[in-house]
Amino acid sequence: MIAVHEAVLLRRRQNKQRDLKAYTASGGLTALAKAHSIGPEETVRILTDSGLVGRGGAAFPAGRKWESVRTAADPTRYVVLNTDESEPGTFKDRVMIESDPFMVLEGLLIACYAVSASCAYIYVRGEYGGIAELLERSLDELRRAGHLDGIAPGGRPLPVEVRHGGGAYICGEETALFRSIEGYRGEPMAKPPFPTVAGLFRKPTVVNNVETMANVPDIIAFGAKTLRSRGTERSPGTKLFSVSGHVARPDTYEVPFGTPLKELLELAGARADDLQAVLLGGAAGTFVFPKDFDLALSYEGVAERKATLGSGAVIAFDRQTNLWQVAERLGRFFAHESCGQCVPCRVGTRRQHEMLETLANGHGRGDERSLLLRLSQVMTDASICGLGQTAATAVRSLMDAESAGLLAH
Ligand SMILES: Cc1cc2nc3c(=O)[nH]c(=O)nc-3n(C[C@H](O)[C@H](O)[C@H](O)COP(=O)(O)O)c2cc1C
Ligand code: SF4
Repeated sequence: MIAVHEAVLLRRRQNKQRDLKAYTASGGLTALAKAHSIGPEETVRILTDSGLVGRGGAAFPAGRKWESVRTAADPTRYVVLNTDESEPGTFKDRVMIESDPFMVLEGLLIACYAVSASCAYIYVRGEYGGIAELLERSLDELRRAGHLDGIAPGGRPLPVEVRHGGGAYICGEETALFRSIEGYRGEPMAKPPFPTVAGLFRKPTVVNNVETMANVPDIIAFGAKTLRSRGTERSPGTKLFSVSGHVARPDTYEVPFGTPLKELLELAGARADDLQAVLLGGAAGTFVFPKDFDLALSYEGVAERKATLGSGAVIAFDRQTNLWQVAERLGRFFAHESCGQCVPCRVGTRRQHEMLETLANGHGRGDERSLLLRLSQVMTDASICGLGQTAATAVRSLMDAESAGLLAH
């Protein structure tokens, strides 16, 4: 079954054909042609006016990123499509590419044209072998039909490289991803400088998530207002959510920003009354409890409740689930995936996991909660990158919920 509430990005999901002919027959590539006719400056202006923000977790305005690179002094620039998607419970980018590889690639080509990129890189999660093949095949079709011509500076054909990821969650963090493409260990670098100034090979770089890039063709083809026709003023457009856990129909759902969480859960076949909690935003997200299921799924809506949309993962848990055991699994994940470069995260994630194991087994001495709280402060404040900075977010929200008497166990 096709589980979409409002299919915009996923509108071709039902099509059996994934070839270029079918894509162009349904209006594909008109945006790329329009970009060529209006030029880079106007293309970026439309994107900026649309209000599109990145869907990879940090919610940074896409137009601002593109404009910084477009106007960079250095003429060597890159665009990277972040297809690492390794956050637990997150699979929307895979579904997006499987449904419509050409829409994602058209967005990438427009980005490259708009910032005069010398080369594009697609960094695909190591375990997504089939997706890498699909992207290579689709790129070949585009190349043979001449759609990569005239995109690189000087009107040259654009080189596009598909790189297989290192199989580590940290490789999705943009600076670690650059290091991995460059042939080093995937370890983050301190920011600033930001990628738009010194990114891949220390050159100005646009890095965007798959879903961000998929939004681009419609915005360029139909104008800045098209995104604003759905969603909320501060979160225009639709959003893909990977819904899993204790729901009858786990799947990727597309809903307009502002849709209540309760409605999304119902789409996935869950009765809100049967659930104990939802982990919203992935492993680095927050637990949300039934009293907050009315929250609006928009950037401002979740911020009001101290939650996050993160990677777009929504994992539902029924009342039989021991959420401390879930927290232990999250703790194990972070301890395993820490790159080990900085002490607050390398040591902090391990100590956090040990205490979560104790709590999950019901063997606490009594001081674990206060130690977890102090540790979470250190990891958040002193870690180099987003992994360490958010490794305790879910745990903290669980402790708050426990204090408020919201846990079933
Ligand atoms: C530990 C970690 C893992 C990340 N993994 C991904 C990922 O798999 N895909 C992604 O698009 N962004 C990921 N990000 C966010 C990227 O660093 C970056 O913000 C994003 O790719 C920018 O694209 P956007 O502006 O289109 O969201 C990750 C960040 C962190 C800290
Ligand atoms: S916070 Fe963790 S993942 Fe990030 S650089 Fe430090 S050790 Fe590596």
